[in-house]
Amino acid sequence: MTGPSPAARSTGIEPIAWAGNHLRLLDQTRLPLAEIWIDLHDHREVAAAIRDMRVRGAPAIGVAAAYGVVLAAQQISGRPFPEFRAELEQAILLLGRTRPTAVNLFWALERMRTSMAAARTPDEARARLLAEALSIHTQDIEANRRMGRHGQVLIPDGATVLTHCNAGALATAGYGTALGVIRAAREAGKHIAVVADETRPLLQGARLTAWELARDGIPTTLIADTMAGSFMQRGAVTCCIVGADRIAANGDVANKIGTYQVAVLAKEHSIPFYVAAPISTLDLSLSDGSLIPIEERSAGEVTRFAGVQTAPEGVSIANPAFDITPARYVTAIITERGVARPPYTSSLQALAAGMEHQR
Ligand code: MRU
Repeated sequence: MTGPSPAARSTGIEPIAWAGNHLRLLDQTRLPLAEIWIDLHDHREVAAAIRDMRVRGAPAIGVAAAYGVVLAAQQISGRPFPEFRAELEQAILLLGRTRPTAVNLFWALERMRTSMAAARTPDEARARLLAEALSIHTQDIEANRRMGRHGQVLIPDGATVLTHCNAGALATAGYGTALGVIRAAREAGKHIAVVADETRPLLQGARLTAWELARDGIPTTLIADTMAGSFMQRGAVTCCIVGADRIAANGDVANKIGTYQVAVLAKEHSIPFYVAAPISTLDLSLSDGSLIPIEERSAGEVTRFAGVQTAPEGVSIANPAFDITPARYVTAIITERGVARPPYTSSLQALAAGMEHQR
């Protein structure tokens, strides 16, 4: 088995591939200057790749971690089943300690745990784990396609869509969430242009969103984060679409730092602000966004720009990687099961319960 079935292929960029006995990742720290694939044979390498953001974006992190569990299971040999399970659990815990905010990571690890619950031998467990990882991989692309179909009806022909960070093919197994909606709108024959925030400090908008949209020939204007308000003020933005790392039961959204200010600006200018995310990004166990853990990353990401020091030695640094956009700023949440509208406490619950729900 080498990856998702042909029917589920996104027909575009796919940053994650199962190569039969190991994992291949398109190294996102090297984009846009170089397209380098890395080969990972060990779950510790997968954990490091997630932590170092060679693979990033909530759904992509979940898919990569699932394959990390497969690699761990392949490497544990010659042990009785109880020891096999105990060692595998250590690997799952290690993968879970990489990035705290994207709930898709924990969702995928839990699916992997559950998939082998009925296994009675290491071989049986290995087979079930591989099947589950491949299914998580395939289902992510299918979910993005469905999300695109549900979401594209919200985007008018001729729209200019502002997005923040990268919620595209690179952040998923393929096609993307927010960028998937934009792709679907174009596939529906609409003329769509994109304004991409560069997304300091790690420049996912400049390095990744601008790169993947250019590859698809989607007209894109890259702006510094500080320019978004001005673009809205002069009528240059029709709507905003972003992804999410975790959505609480009340509809509060954790996403890349800077998303909150985009949402507040959008409200000020009466511009719709949409969030596109799979059901696996919902965390209905948390009543609101204040309970979502926010990853704090290293100071060097802020004090340096493209390897060059831009701040004085010894300055105090804060580097939260995500922020919380309160539900009141979110016009709608687009999922593969339909579009949720306020009040989110009931609409998200209904979608999570499996009810198709579109308004
Ligand atoms: O720190 P990153 O690059 O992993 O953050 C990514 C984002 O914030 C994305 O918007 C989010 O994960 C959704 S990806 C479909």
